[in-house]
Amino acid sequence: MPTEPPEAGKGLPPPVFATRDPALPEFWSERFSHRFTPWDRAGVPQHLLQFVAATGTPLATLIPGCGAGHEVAFLAEAGWPVCAIDFSPAAVAAAHAALGKWAALVVQADFFSFTPPMPLQMIYERAFLCALPRATWPRIVGRYAELLPAGALLAGFFFFDGGLRGPPFGADPAALAALLEPSFVLRDDQPVADSVAAFAGRERWQVWQRR
Ligand SMILES: C[S@@+](CC[C@H](N)C(=O)[O-])C[C@H]1O[C@@H](n2cnc3c(N)ncnc32)[C@H](O)[C@@H]1O
Repeated sequence: MPTEPPEAGKGLPPPVFATRDPALPEFWSERFSHRFTPWDRAGVPQHLLQFVAATGTPLATLIPGCGAGHEVAFLAEAGWPVCAIDFSPAAVAAAHAALGKWAALVVQADFFSFTPPMPLQMIYERAFLCALPRATWPRIVGRYAELLPAGALLAGFFFFDGGLRGPPFGADPAALAALLEPSFVLRDDQPVADSVAAFAGRERWQVWQRR
């Protein structure tokens, strides 16, 4: 998920981005406005399709940092209560444009201050944790833990990489486990075969259960 333009000479002239801080909504809005979204899956990942098919009961789910929100319509069509947020107005506009009758499920909000409209049974993670600097991860994980009651799930895609620059900011497996394990137990951990190029070979589907 490079959020900086490709090197000159490798394709179209790159857009010039003025924003550099992924902790601000302007950073993401600028990239959505330029349609520079290399993280965008443009569909629903296979592991989520399989997980929903295998889960008998719909789970009330929050999608933080939902971007274009491809998973929102899928979960809603499957009968899952879903609420998705993004703090970038341009991301929310992209989701609203794509989601038709499900558009109202996406609201503009900051994950750190948002209160979901329903008790949660799951948080779906994709390219949200890795979008933000590692220094913010304890706060993100703390908020996950606050929002999820015992037994609820944190399920989705986790990006593993040691590179210093980002986004995306990759995790070290042991460091991620050390962050999550005080509040969560790892229930599933699988390789991913249908990643976008930016994550290929470096992301895993994981399901963590709130202690
Ligand atoms: C890399 S994009 C991923 C979008 C989407 N999850 C996907 O898989 O395509 C990260 C998204 O997180 C959003 N974001 C970052 N920090 C946020 C925050 N504090 N609250 C809500 N959204 C946030 C950004 O605006 C951006 O749309």
